[in-house]
Amino acid sequence: MKLFLDTAEIEEIRTAARWGVLDGVTTNPSLYAKVGGSYDELLVEICRITPGPVSAEVVADDVEGMLKEGRAFARLAPNIVVKVPMCEEGLEAIYRFAEEGIKTNCTLIFSANQGLLAAKAGASLLSPFVGRLDDINQDGMEVIRDLVSIVEMHDLDSEVLAASIRHPRHVTEAALAGSHIATLPFKVLQQMVHHPLTDKGIQTFRDDWQKARAAAAASAKPTGTASARKPAAR
Ligand code: E4P
Repeated sequence: MKLFLDTAEIEEIRTAARWGVLDGVTTNPSLYAKVGGSYDELLVEICRITPGPVSAEVVADDVEGMLKEGRAFARLAPNIVVKVPMCEEGLEAIYRFAEEGIKTNCTLIFSANQGLLAAKAGASLLSPFVGRLDDINQDGMEVIRDLVSIVEMHDLDSEVLAASIRHPRHVTEAALAGSHIATLPFKVLQQMVHHPLTDKGIQTFRDDWQKARAAAAASAKPTGTASARKPAAR
């Protein structure tokens, strides 16, 4: 399964890239609002650091507006994927982008049927929001499971991207459900690295190493043998 970072923070993206675990990035207007500045410049920098697709979201509410924004994003870098919301205008825009060879990520998917429609229209990525469904007491992971089955059963040319991930368990469940991608906040990626027994184990090994080195150094010290002593004055 591919792992994307769900962020617009450059340092987080750089760190995940250095760890060798970064496959792509998703941004959205709320994530961009936390960072500010020029969205275009930010996207160019993210695309430079990221080895795979970078999603940039349109905000227009009409088809022509979505197309204009998306085409401008697509000109910024070859790995841009235009993020389009699930709605009637969004489907039309996704279809038109596909005709132009521009890849899209259909966002704000909350049902398997919405995902099926986005795939039919030509979206490369289908983004069901797991956490926001869980928040309203529905099983977000069920949409992932259903949509993965539909995509595979009907050999659709789209990948399921588990979005709105809130904790590491979501990542495991999305992987087990066969989701092609999960996009995670940097905090969740960090949580995946750590385990209390790993952290405790690292500390214990380091402490024992220091003790062993100190003991070895003490036993190697000259302890007053005849050859080490100065000759006695006559
Ligand atoms: C990613 O593409 C989505 O925009 C994001 O995962 C939404 O996450 P949230 O529900 O935590 O805002």
